[in-house]
Amino acid sequence: MQNLTTLKDIDLENKKVLLRVDYNVVTDGKITDEFRVRASLPTIDYLIKKNCSIILISHNGRPEGKVVESMSLRPVARLLPRLLGRDVTFIDECTGDEVQQEAEFLRAGDIMLLENLRFNPGEEKNDSGFAKELASLAEVYVDDAFAAIHRAHASTVGVAKLLPHAAGLLVQKEYDTFEMLMEKPKRPYTAVIGGAKISDKLGILKEILNHVDALLIGGAMANTFLLAKGHNMRSSKVEKDKLKEALSIMRKAQTKKIKLLLPVDLVVSKSVDDKNKPKTVNTDGLQAGDIALDLGPKTMDLFNSVISESKTVFWNGTLGIAELPKFAKASSSMAHSMISSDAKTIVGGGDTAAFVDKAELESHFSFVSTGGGASLQLLAGNKLPGIEILLRK
Ligand code: 3PG
Repeated sequence: MQNLTTLKDIDLENKKVLLRVDYNVVTDGKITDEFRVRASLPTIDYLIKKNCSIILISHNGRPEGKVVESMSLRPVARLLPRLLGRDVTFIDECTGDEVQQEAEFLRAGDIMLLENLRFNPGEEKNDSGFAKELASLAEVYVDDAFAAIHRAHASTVGVAKLLPHAAGLLVQKEYDTFEMLMEKPKRPYTAVIGGAKISDKLGILKEILNHVDALLIGGAMANTFLLAKGHNMRSSKVEKDKLKEALSIMRKAQTKKIKLLLPVDLVVSKSVDDKNKPKTVNTDGLQAGDIALDLGPKTMDLFNSVISESKTVFWNGTLGIAELPKFAKASSSMAHSMISSDAKTIVGGGDTAAFVDKAELESHFSFVSTGGGASLQLLAGNKLPGIEILLRK
């Protein structure tokens, strides 16, 4: 992987900086994930030390080019001063006269947050006019929005073409971590992949077999692999149209002599909100109406023994319905087994990052990525538009 242009490569002293962050953390007017906001602080601090003034820009949700009040970034503007210990001005637009004027009067150390970029239809279309308006606010562009780096939008790609630019400290750290996983992981290297569907993770499942020594599969996704091996999964969620893919991944692992482990027991219920206590059954013991909702203890013993022998572990995708404590035992066991191992431990973003953050375990891992889709695409070996534009020429 090539090197990125970093903050050290560009002249930042006393500059007005357009800083793209990923504050896609507000749902129905409430912040659901402070982790991403905290992850943006080192770059903000770095720029302040360089006497920069900062214009923060971000998207939130998918408002499809319209103003949707519940997707406003205003709650983040209320949180930032508490985290930064400085005032942050919020403007409820991202272009126009007021934004221009406020941007003009910014002084060293001033911070301003603009409204949700996706309220403007130009953002997702990577409209050149919209990119120009954003670029006209500042002298330098810094991209620290790793979670949006796979999107070719006006604020990720368009503005980078118009201003001197660099990756922020978070993007750099994320990129370096995934480069290490792709090119020089300490071995044995184990990947733990969970989550709901094979279809969401086909790219990474195929590519990761070129890098790992062991692959542990959990979550509802494992059901499709088990079905492909002939198990009767009863009422569990399966993707019948992905059986061929599941078989081909298992075959590839066998050919490459990679240890691929599937669950041997499962926690099952008749429904997610069944009042009866969930049962634990072997994978060939599901009864009519059973739905697999978590991995069982035998599986976790097997998985944990592989983790304890690994020197690098990457985990993406919770192993059961982790939002519900009764089906979060396997995910919790995986988190604890990773943090008590000697391995370098990396958690992919999205639900898995939210799970470890909520359990207040985030600081015990070597690295927790802020990017769900972005990290999966990087590990699938895809070229990401936001990265390509930041590569050192
Ligand atoms: C994310 O949360 O994965 C990023 O913020 C990207 O959001 P998007 O999938 O709506 O582009």
